[in-house]
Amino acid sequence: MLRQVKKVFLVLVGILTMTFVVQHIWVTSKNVRQGLVAWSSKEVQSIEKNPCIDRRASEYNRVEDIYCIVLPEFLPHLKNPCFYDIVQNGTKSLRCLPYFYILGIDKSGSTDFHNRLTKHPQVYGNLGTLDKETEFWSWKRYGFAFKRKIEQRATLDFYLDLFSPLAGNITARNETNLVTGDATPMDVYDFRGWPMIPQNEGLQEPRILTPHLVKYIHGQHRPKFIIIFREPIERLYSDYVFLKYGKDPEEFHQHVVLAITMMKECIAMFSRRFCFFDDDLLQKLPVRIHVSCYSVFLKEWLQVFPRSVFHIIRTTEYANEMETTLKEAFHFLELPSVSPDIMQDMVNEDRRHETANKTSTVLPETRALLRTYYSTCNEEMAELLDDQRFLWLDHYS
Ligand SMILES: *[C@@H]1O[C@H](CO)[C@@H](O)[C@H](O)[C@H]1NC(C)=O
Ligand SMILES: *[C@@H]1O[C@H](CO)[C@@H](O)[C@H](O)[C@H]1NC(C)=O
Ligand SMILES: *[C@@H]1O[C@H](CO)[C@@H](O)[C@H](O)[C@H]1NC(C)=O
Ligand SMILES: *[C@@H]1O[C@H](CO)[C@@H](O)[C@H](O)[C@H]1NC(C)=O
Repeated sequence: MLRQVKKVFLVLVGILTMTFVVQHIWVTSKNVRQGLVAWSSKEVQSIEKNPCIDRRASEYNRVEDIYCIVLPEFLPHLKNPCFYDIVQNGTKSLRCLPYFYILGIDKSGSTDFHNRLTKHPQVYGNLGTLDKETEFWSWKRYGFAFKRKIEQRATLDFYLDLFSPLAGNITARNETNLVTGDATPMDVYDFRGWPMIPQNEGLQEPRILTPHLVKYIHGQHRPKFIIIFREPIERLYSDYVFLKYGKDPEEFHQHVVLAITMMKECIAMFSRRFCFFDDDLLQKLPVRIHVSCYSVFLKEWLQVFPRSVFHIIRTTEYANEMETTLKEAFHFLELPSVSPDIMQDMVNEDRRHETANKTSTVLPETRALLRTYYSTCNEEMAELLDDQRFLWLDHYS
């Protein structure tokens, strides 16, 4: 009896192993076809625990299943996470992921910050918008272009190509300490694509979001994240005017009242996570009121990555103490400090993407309404970051 059970057990194990091997040969050959090289034994282990579902997604222009991708190991002598990819004709080409991400947030100075950061001789931009925005993780992967939908869904292969200036320079100059980043300000909060992630299928609320996917694809490498936050009401009005939702403070007031009602109605029926990550609601909101409630989004990132890999900056300090802020960022990024000349250049660089004249004009009643609306979010932020500055009291005196 016992022997029979053992036999059945062994047969089962055999079948499972075979299935496993066959699956992985498939992964390998597909990755080679796509130009991604073979896996190592360590990666096989991580795949065993890994919920790859839709291997053929990108062939059918479905949203790519990041968990089905197995990257080769990153080259240990490079500071930036890069690997060799075997191209069809046998030549090797270097491909890279970002070493750091500037995750956000819109209208808070991240473009200006990135622009100065890339004056550091070791920091490279990418081929995205303004040398910095790949729009991959929150938009292009899902076929989003803000509120529009586009036919083609970007794949990781496309993403890796955007970092070819860094890869090319590492190869050409054999410099091992160069790094690059992705500064897409929507990445921190725009989770609208979640229902298209295969691992979330059929769920009422997401299980897997961008932070999980970024963590998975970075494997042993731990990326660094920078986020710049601006006082929520100033940010909201700036966003409103910049995106042409409206143009004057009276209109803004009406839209804020309406948006608060819409959010409340949604939350009365669904969870906060559902409402804040919902594409249908975003399409209808007359002002992007949810984006300034930072804690909802930051929580998701902090559930996946430890606090120590985030460097959080307030626009207030960035504007007032630029040199100090830049130095602290270099320190966080483990980059050497720059010469006084370069630092002068960085600080004197013209401001980018400045959107002037805003909050002074927000009506006092709108301001009061929004202060109440954001009070919970701000308290949560102060608690998450253990930093009272995120109550923004210095802006409310
Ligand atoms: C094949 O190799 C040559 C160098 O020998 C290279 O110039 C060419 O770009 C490669 N072709 C492809 C498709 O990568
Ligand atoms: C090196 O980087 C610069 C700036 O990003 C870029 O213009 C250039 O094409 C890169 N060189 C190579 C060989 O990729
Ligand atoms: C590149 O640099 C590494 C050490 O940093 C060295 O071992 C290697 O030989 C160099 N390669 C070339 C082509 O110069
Ligand atoms: C900013 O506001 C001032 C007065 O408050 C006005 O004179 C100026 O034209 C405004 N600038 C812009 C760019 O709207």
